[in-house]
Amino acid sequence: LAKIEVNLAEIPEGKSVTFKWRGKPLFIRHRTAAEISTEKAVPLDELRDPEPDEKRATNPEWLVVIGVCTHLGCVPIANAGDFGGYYCPCHGSHYDASGRIRKGPAPLNLEIPPYDFVGDLLVVG
Ligand code: FES
Repeated sequence: LAKIEVNLAEIPEGKSVTFKWRGKPLFIRHRTAAEISTEKAVPLDELRDPEPDEKRATNPEWLVVIGVCTHLGCVPIANAGDFGGYYCPCHGSHYDASGRIRKGPAPLNLEIPPYDFVGDLLVVG
């Protein structure tokens, strides 16, 4: 299936839920107010792959990323690691709650697929 629709009401605040999209894991995270303010406050010069949180999460409550580590392609674990986002156990890459690489061997932030909000639905693809 090229597109998937996700009912956002089913993802409680603070949770990251994994879906499948084009054969890959897709993480949809309902971010808390604390996560949003933490990520917005990160100085860009601390980032290996500098991208502002505003650009990665156009609707700040929702982070939508492909769950494939940009090092060698393992699937990171949600709500783990040193930066409160995702942790890849294969070689120890830590991502923040904006999906940005913060520590470990991965070179790039978690990839963001095309998506749109349609009422209470998130349409990915
Ligand atoms: Fe994730 Fe190597 S594949 S750290």
